[in-house]
Formats: sequence, structure tokens, C-alpha cells
Amino acid sequence: MLTSLPYLLSQAQKFHYAVGAFNVYNLETVQAVIAAAEKMKSPIVIQTSEAAIEYAGMENLGALVHLMAKKSKVPIVFHLDHGKDEKLVVEAIKSGWYGSVMFDGSALPLKENLASTKRLVKLAHSKGVAVEAELGAIAGIEDFVSVKEREALLTDPKQAADFVRETGCDALAIAIGTKHGAYKFHGDCQLDSQRLQEIHKSVKIPLVLHGASGVPANVKNLAIKFGAKIGEAKGVSDSAIKKAISLGICKINIDTDLRIAFLAGLHEFIEKNPKNLDPRAFLSAGKDLVSKTVEQKMRLFGSAKKR
Ligand code: G3H
Ligand code: 13P
Ligand code: ZN
Repeated sequence: MLTSLPYLLSQAQKFHYAVGAFNVYNLETVQAVIAAAEKMKSPIVIQTSEAAIEYAGMENLGALVHLMAKKSKVPIVFHLDHGKDEKLVVEAIKSGWYGSVMFDGSALPLKENLASTKRLVKLAHSKGVAVEAELGAIAGIEDFVSVKEREALLTDPKQAADFVRETGCDALAIAIGTKHGAYKFHGDCQLDSQRLQEIHKSVKIPLVLHGASGVPANVKNLAIKFGAKIGEAKGVSDSAIKKAISLGICKINIDTDLRIAFLAGLHEFIEKNPKNLDPRAFLSAGKDLVSKTVEQKMRLFGSAKKR
């Protein structure tokens, strides 16, 4: 069933687990994440990026998710991921499809991020929609050229507390050294746990970890075996995820791992079945691997059996 982000994340905070927020963009990804949530009896956030909306249409994705979520027994929140265009965020709030939206003003000067977030929170709350905001730049810890730059771009705990108080947002995405995509680290996975601990002390609303894909060896190796060129891909380790949850992260965004899984499933099926002429057969292979990957995440995040 559909539920609200504050409720879903308050349960996660109370019982010390994290809810996975999985990016979807077509029928197969929606089916795959809901099937995994049902199998694992796990709450779930299903989210669409601006690019996913451009690809598939807000109404198409919204209708699909609503139809399937209403038939499902697990609690589901339908969420807009990384809304950078204020007009699109307003459209999503007014559409009636989204239970929550993320306004990503992280590229704006702080004052503008704060003012826009505050304005959108007011509108969203008047329509019963929750808002995730972002403070700090989600960039890999190895990408900062100096300590000064790192300090300026990762989330500042004191600033985070002021930002949350002034905007009234419901959840906060923070920057502690993860980045989006498959190539997060050259060396070991490092996150700024000390910073997370300090943010958690000063901010009481749910904290969100973006760029959290782990590039799991099983799907990465399968994709490589069947032709994908992703040898340098490296994600956030399972131990770093567990530590982040223990320090207060309760929503974890995953997109890249599902993309790799989908592609690995397609590559394998197509190579093993060169005579197949039915796209439904290879889409199903991709979908199954996406589902298995989501199940792995639910075990890792501790959200299994928490529905
Ligand atoms: O965090 C961003 C997601 O990975 C969305 O990626 O804009 O290519 O859909 P996308
Ligand atoms: P990944 O690229 O690590 O999957 O991050 C996804 C994300 O943060 C979506 O908002
Ligand atoms: Zn993100």
C-alpha cells in the first residue's frame, strides 16, 4: 500500500534499519522492486529521477506505481529523486502521484537553496507531500583536491541543523564522501563517519545516503563475463553501509547497482540465447537479476521482515 515518507522513516529510525530507495524508469524496474519488497516483506521507496520522467513520463510512471502499490501488502512511498528544476518539483507536488519529493538545491548558493527549499516545503506540506532536501555536494571523497575544498563541500553539522530548522524539511540528504555512479573509489571505500556522527547529533530528522551503490561482485562479474567493460567500477562496501546505518542513516538510494544488474541479465541472456527473438524473454532475465539485487540490499539494510 502507499504510505508517507515521514511514517516509513520514523519506523526505520525507531528500529535502527534503513529503507532502500530504488530508482525506476519502466515497467520492468517497477515490477522488479515491488516483487523483491514483497518477497522480503520489506518497506520500500520507489523513486523517479528527472531523467526517468523525461524518458517515461510522470503520469505513466505515477499510474504504474500507484496501480501496483495499491495491490501490494508492503508499505511503499513514491518519491521524486533529485528534483533540481523547481517547476518540475511543483508539478510533482501538485500531480497527486508523489508522497514525497526531493528538492536538490545543492548546486545553488546556500541562501538560495534555503529559500527555495523553504518555499517548496510550504507548498508540499499544504498538499500532504513530504520533502527531502540536500545540503553539501555529493562527490567522491577522492575527488576533493584539498582539505579546504573537502570541508567546504561535505555537509557541515551546524549548518545542517540550522538548515533543517529554517526550512522545515522532512529528511536531509547529506554529503559524507559518496558519489553517484559506478566509479566511486580508486582505493579503499572511505566515508566520513565522524562527520555523520556529528550531523546525527545535531539533526533529528531522517538522514539520507545518496550514491550508495556497492557494485556487488556477483553482478559486476556476471556483467563483465558477458561483455560489459566495467572493470574499474567500485562502490560503497557493505561494512561502510552497515556503519552508516548504525550512525543514523535511514534512507539509502540505489540506482547504479540495479542498472548493472539489469544489463548483466540482458547480456547473459542474449549471449546464451542468440536465436531468441522475443524481447520479453531477455527483459525478464534483467528483471529477475534486479529483483535479486534489491533483495540483497534489503538484507543488508535490515529492512527485511519490517513491513
Ligand atoms: O542520483 C541520480 C540517479 O542515479 C538518477 O540518474 O538522472 O540518469 O536517471 P538519472
Ligand atoms: P548510486 O549511483 O550509487 O546508485 O546512487 C543513486 C542515488 O543516489 C539516486 O539518488
Ligand atoms: Zn542521489
